Amino acid sequence: MPTSGKKKLLSVEDLKVSFRSGDKTALAVDGLNFEVHHGETVCIVGESGCGKTVSSLAILGLIQRPPGRIEQGAIFFAGRDLLRLQEDELCLIRGRQIGMIFQDPLTSLNPVFTVKEQIQETILAHEILEQKNIEPRLFELLQSVGLPSPETTLRSYPHQLSGGQRQRVMIAMAMSCDPKLIIADEPTTALDVTVQAQIIKLFKSTVQDGSRSILYITHDLGVVANLAQRVYVMYAGLIVEQGPVREILRNPGHPYTQGLLASLPGTGKRGSLLPSIPGTVPAPSRRPPGCPFHPRCSIRQDSCVLQRPGLEAIKSGHFSRCPVLIKGEPEKRTGLL
Ligand SMILES: Nc1ncnc2c1ncn2[C@@H]1O[C@H](COP(=O)(O)OP(=O)(O)O)[C@@H](O)[C@H]1O
Ligand SMILES: [Mg+2]
Repeated sequence: MPTSGKKKLLSVEDLKVSFRSGDKTALAVDGLNFEVHHGETVCIVGESGCGKTVSSLAILGLIQRPPGRIEQGAIFFAGRDLLRLQEDELCLIRGRQIGMIFQDPLTSLNPVFTVKEQIQETILAHEILEQKNIEPRLFELLQSVGLPSPETTLRSYPHQLSGGQRQRVMIAMAMSCDPKLIIADEPTTALDVTVQAQIIKLFKSTVQDGSRSILYITHDLGVVANLAQRVYVMYAGLIVEQGPVREILRNPGHPYTQGLLASLPGTGKRGSLLPSIPGTVPAPSRRPPGCPFHPRCSIRQDSCVLQRPGLEAIKSGHFSRCPVLIKGEPEKRTGLL
């Protein structure tokens, strides 16, 4: 899907975020670049520890300092650099223009307030509606996220709802002020597969009219195939591959992406163990020189240890940081489709 000529809603440029531990500082996010256009659903995919959550917190101005620190970069949202705004200006954007949904709704919802009180508070905080118009809006919101009996749900406390219902409430809350962008950080990870599929369907329906964009963060490439137009594959604090979803699933240009694809259930041979990538994501303080993936990579060459590869174009809109795979034989780039 061509993206050139589309208007950028969010643009993260050369972002570096560090954390201090004792007298050492390490970069959890190490030169991140990506963008989300108007009306687009974009996924960032990568294993646990790659820096996905730190990146989304940075966008929202929620990195705690110390131990965290934004070392450099810019985050343009609707033309303004969020990193240069004061906290009160950011508060007007958070919730109102950028809705947030996190992995665990139980920690994001307040246990001592009912669903009604919590969604109402978001709407009132941003002065979107007068008090008398709130009740119909609450009903409308809960119906739109597929909660069957709004009256009962509104009266409920978070612990009285199932995991799937809580996540629907979080989505309703995120949508309550009709934001231009929704950032969803692993919103279905804690849910079972059936509920997961329903929530993904719900996300798709929220962007159907083209008025809103979603930045969807996940460790599961299977979800990406179903939801997004474009995907960024993140490893050890930076993007290692990016492009249109279909193109990346068919023709992955980085061994890390190939490994993620091979780890998906249903892609391995029947009866065989799930193939997965050996090793784990290194902690920020233990990232190796050169290509950060080289210790886990089956096609590494000597040069990979020495220098971090830049993003190179494979095709229009499709980029990868693996010169070995890009310049190697095309048959090595086997994908899902
Ligand atoms: N509050 C923190 N203090 C110190 N290090 C942190 C903190 N939050 C995140 N990190 C570091 O940043 C790395 C990336 O974390 P995170 O963004 O949560 O990964 P992901 O969401 O991709 O699983 C982690 O490996 C961790 O070492
Ligand atoms: Mg995370």
